[in-house]
Amino acid sequence: MTDIQALRATVQDLVAPAKGILAADESTGTMGRRLGSIGVENTEENRRDYREMLFRTAGASEYVSGVILYDETLRQKAADGTPFVEVLQAQGIIPGIKVDAGLSPLPGAEGEVVTQGLDGLRERLAEYRDLGARFTKWRALLNVGPAIPSAYCIETNAHALARYAALAQEAGLVPIVEPEVLMDGGHDIERTQEATEAMLLAVFRELAAQRVALDGMLLKPNMVVSGSDATGRAGPQEVAERTVAVFLRTVPAAMPGIVFLSGGQNDDDATTNLQAIAAQGAKAGAPWALTYSYGRGLQTLPLATWGGKAAAVEKAQRAFLHRCRVTSAARQGKYTPAMEKELSAV
Ligand code: 13P
Repeated sequence: MTDIQALRATVQDLVAPAKGILAADESTGTMGRRLGSIGVENTEENRRDYREMLFRTAGASEYVSGVILYDETLRQKAADGTPFVEVLQAQGIIPGIKVDAGLSPLPGAEGEVVTQGLDGLRERLAEYRDLGARFTKWRALLNVGPAIPSAYCIETNAHALARYAALAQEAGLVPIVEPEVLMDGGHDIERTQEATEAMLLAVFRELAAQRVALDGMLLKPNMVVSGSDATGRAGPQEVAERTVAVFLRTVPAAMPGIVFLSGGQNDDDATTNLQAIAAQGAKAGAPWALTYSYGRGLQTLPLATWGGKAAAVEKAQRAFLHRCRVTSAARQGKYTPAMEKELSAV
């Protein structure tokens, strides 16, 4: 029998006031692109050094409740031989793990993808739990175009998300259900809103059908934003109103928390949009915690500051701590642009 109380307790710790999640679960391929952007070779040692810089940032645990790791990272050790899992646990940070196996073309659906990784998942989840993971993530991705996402793509991905979530709960691991409507493209915010609403309706229908306990999971959605190449992109107030409106229509109050992905928004947008959403959520009486589970939104600045140089580790850690601090402030509705100046002052 699944211990729902234990899942609930982990969920509450993950969305604790002022805190959010660091997504550091880039696959080896994605990490290669990130390291390539700063001219660093994609070796296991470089991936370790970069992640060690993040995980050993003193003070980050004030803002980071959990870290989503990748298979390699969950098993990896810091330079001094301490497993990363222990480095995080020693700071009271909960280790989590991405368990999907990435995207694959959806047959018969031009331009659409489905997430793989259900085969053997039950066994992998048991192993991840033994390795110290307490929560998990599965990402489904919906591309937006004139005729997509199709109902077929939405249904197929929603079904897989719920299959995953049910198996994670069975293994005693909190599922983070991530249906991402991709920002890439020239579509307007209206299209993002339609696609997000359709996907969330399908996801919660499937979660109910597959007997997932909503109080023992988290939702990781996109914000409702304009496509990255759209002309006249919507500002934070419109983003916040549309995002909260969509959730109020589709997300049951039993689900404890919404942890946003940053989805390639620049640091500024990821922070100001979160701030506006937190304020709008409070105004609308939103029943769920609203916080962050950012990858790029927390890492872009420290990655560039580090640049692969041991001598830059402390400076990169200050940059990471800064992004954590301002993102936490935004989650609490306390962010001001003046806070960006604090980094240059330290
Ligand atoms: P971004 O915040 O960079 O979108 O990453 C979050 C994530 O986990 C994507 O799957």
